[in-house]
Amino acid sequence: MKEEIIEKYKKAGKIAKEALDLAIELVKEDVKAIDVAEKVEAKVIELGGKPAWPLNISINSIAAHWTPKIGDETVFKKGDLVKLDVGVHVDGFIADTAKTIEIGTNKWEKLIKASEDALEEALKIAKPGTTISEIGAAIENKIKENGFVPIANLTGHGLDEYENHTSPTIPNFDNKSNQKLEKGDVIAIEPFATDGVGKVIDAKESEIFKLENPKPTRQRMARKILEHVAEEHLTLPFCKRWLQKRVKGFGLEMGIRELRRIESLHNFSVLKEESNGMVSQAEHTIILLDEPIIITK
Ligand code: CO
Repeated sequence: MKEEIIEKYKKAGKIAKEALDLAIELVKEDVKAIDVAEKVEAKVIELGGKPAWPLNISINSIAAHWTPKIGDETVFKKGDLVKLDVGVHVDGFIADTAKTIEIGTNKWEKLIKASEDALEEALKIAKPGTTISEIGAAIENKIKENGFVPIANLTGHGLDEYENHTSPTIPNFDNKSNQKLEKGDVIAIEPFATDGVGKVIDAKESEIFKLENPKPTRQRMARKILEHVAEEHLTLPFCKRWLQKRVKGFGLEMGIRELRRIESLHNFSVLKEESNGMVSQAEHTIILLDEPIIITK
């Protein structure tokens, strides 16, 4: 990997870490989720990066892909278990990191520790030549040792230029794959632990989208959104909050609806634990060189 690219990844990682630290500081009882998202996303820009996706704030049995909608009134409550997942890119090179905190209690200490321990264990062995199965087994064993269940259908993943999810897939259980991690891979490892059954399902809402097979449309609002997203976010995820300044009010809804109708958008459904179990997550991004570099630590 070129030194110049490594430097971009490192910069993205440093910004992502700072942004995540800020998010942790801001999340408190009675604070609005939308205020945290806006401040954290602004911080990323202030530090010289760009958000690679909207701040994901997933509460309690929501595991991933929740971000505040326009005018969202969601407020954090005492006892909430909050997963904060930050993505930052520098010229398309992405750092992905997440942490779980609880608000004003220590009921979920062990559940939080389960995903953190699993992440540490996986990071210890992540290097070129390690098999996917070894990583998965390390994660699964640590989560089980802590008395919880790994979420089987949520995985870590590779990262690439303007690609937030690419191969290899990094399972949170031993999937028996002999596929090896390769030198030059950039991967995000993200164990999810739960006291539920260990599976997520789609909730019927989505606020996060990305362009997929953009097709021509004559609807003016849809075209405006398409042009802006293609220029500003390319193939990375975005949300309606980010488009407000470009397309106002009902026009935004109409434009998004049209883009979904012509199947030019992929939508990321909010993911919820099937049995309403509580969910914790921990995540770091690592560049697999002979000496692996954890860029988000
Ligand atoms: Co990730």
